Amino acid sequence: MCRESGIDIVAEVENATVTDLAEELSSLILQARFFGRGHRVIAEGIDLVLRICARLHAARRGGPVTIGCADGLLFADSRPLLRADRAAQKLRPFLESLGAGGITMEPECGAEDLRALLGLAECRKPEELGVAGANRELAANGTGGIRILPLYSETPSLEGDREAPQAAQRIVTVSERVYEGLFDHLTEVMLRLVRGELHFLEETQAEVERTLSRLSEDAASVFDTIQRETSRSDVFQFRHSIRVGCLALEFARALTDDRELLLRLGTAALLHDVGKRDVPPEVLRHPGRLSGEMLEAMRQHPRYGARLLLRMPDSDPLAVAIAFCHHRRSDGGGYPESVDLAELSLATHVVKICDVYEALTAERPYKPRMTPRRAYRVMIGMSGQLDPALLHRFIDVVGVWPVGERVRLRSGAVGRVVAQTGCHDRPVIRLEGERDPVDLRGARGDDLGPVAGCPVEHPEEQPVS
Ligand SMILES: [Fe+2]
Ligand SMILES: [Fe+2]
Repeated sequence: MCRESGIDIVAEVENATVTDLAEELSSLILQARFFGRGHRVIAEGIDLVLRICARLHAARRGGPVTIGCADGLLFADSRPLLRADRAAQKLRPFLESLGAGGITMEPECGAEDLRALLGLAECRKPEELGVAGANRELAANGTGGIRILPLYSETPSLEGDREAPQAAQRIVTVSERVYEGLFDHLTEVMLRLVRGELHFLEETQAEVERTLSRLSEDAASVFDTIQRETSRSDVFQFRHSIRVGCLALEFARALTDDRELLLRLGTAALLHDVGKRDVPPEVLRHPGRLSGEMLEAMRQHPRYGARLLLRMPDSDPLAVAIAFCHHRRSDGGGYPESVDLAELSLATHVVKICDVYEALTAERPYKPRMTPRRAYRVMIGMSGQLDPALLHRFIDVVGVWPVGERVRLRSGAVGRVVAQTGCHDRPVIRLEGERDPVDLRGARGDDLGPVAGCPVEHPEEQPVS
C-alpha cells in the first residue's frame, strides 16, 4: 500500500486488510487538509482507497466493510486494530468528533462518496452535525455508499464487541503515548502552517519536555517504541523527525545537564525538517532516490524551514540555525549555498550527526536498515561533513547495540539493551523475564575467545521472534 515505497501497489492491494483501509482513509483526510480536496494526490488517494475497498468487498462476498470506533480504539471484525499504524488511528478523532461509533462502506461506494466524506472532515463544528447530520451530508453529496454509524452503546446488537477494545487499551505504554503525542503534535504543526498560524513553539517545547522526562525514566522503552512504529503514509516524514529529536536529546543529555538548552535543542531537532512543508508533495512522495529537478526542490527545505521559524513571534535562533544549516558541511560544502556563514554551531553538529545516523539506520523504501556498526563506518568516512570528535562521542553514547535494541546472547537468552557502558559492544541488558539488568562488561574473560553473555547476532540479521 505504501505509496512512498513505490512497491508494487497492485500486489499490495491484493493483500490489503481493514487496517490498510483505515490507514489510507486517515491519510486521505489529513492530506485533504494539507493540500486541498482538488489536489492530484487526493485523486490518487481516492483511487487507492477504492481499490482496497473493492478487494475487501470481494473477500466479504459483496458485504459492507465496517471500521468500528469505541473506547478510544478502532476495530474491525470484532478485533481491535491494535498494532495498526499511528496514522490509521487518526480516523478515530474524526469519528469521535461526530459522536460516531464507526464508518461503513458499501460495495457501491465510489469517488463521489469519498469526496463527500472529505468534505465532512473539513466541517468546523462536527459535534453540531452529529451522526444524523453527517449521514444527511453524505447522502446529499455522494451516492449513499458510505454511512457513519451511531455509537456502539446505541447499537444493542453489537454490544458483544465491546470486550476486545477495552482489553486491548490496557497495554498502550507510557512511551507509546509519548510517541503518539509527538506524532500528533507534528501533524498539528503542519495543519497550523497550512492555515498560516505560526504560534506553536511553546507547545513543541512542552512535548519535548515530556519526551525528555520519559527518556530519563526509561530510554529503552522510548527507543523500542520508535523502532517498532511503522507507517505507510508518513508524507512529511514525521517518524524521521521524531527519531532525530529523540536521538539528539539522548546524545545531548550526555553532553550537558542544562535543561533549558536540552529543551531548545530537542525542539530544534524535532523541527529541523519543518521546511519540507513547502516541498511539492510529488517530491516528498516520490518512491526511491531523487534526482535532477526533484533533488533541487528537496534541497530547498532548509531555506524554507529557517524562513518559517524566523517568522514566528517566539522564534529561537538556535532552531533557525539548525533548520538552515543541518545539510551544510564543516568544510563549506553542502547546501544551501551561502557565502557569509559563520562556523556551524555545536548544536547544529549534534543534530547533523543524529540526522545522518537516523537516515542510515532507518529502513527506507529504496534501502534496508543499516546496522549501527556499519553506519558508524560510513559516518567516520564522511570527512569534512561531520565533526570527528563529536562523532566519536556520539558512538560512545549510542553504542554498537543502541538502547532499546533486542539482542540474543550466545547462551540463547534474549534481552533488551537498557544502557551503554562506554565499552561499545558490551552494554547493560535486561533479559526477558528478569528484573535486574546485567552489565556485559562483567562477562569479559581473560582470553579473547567467545564469551558467554556476549551478543553475537544482530536483530536485523537474525530477527528475534
Ligand atoms: Fe533535512
Ligand atoms: Fe532530516
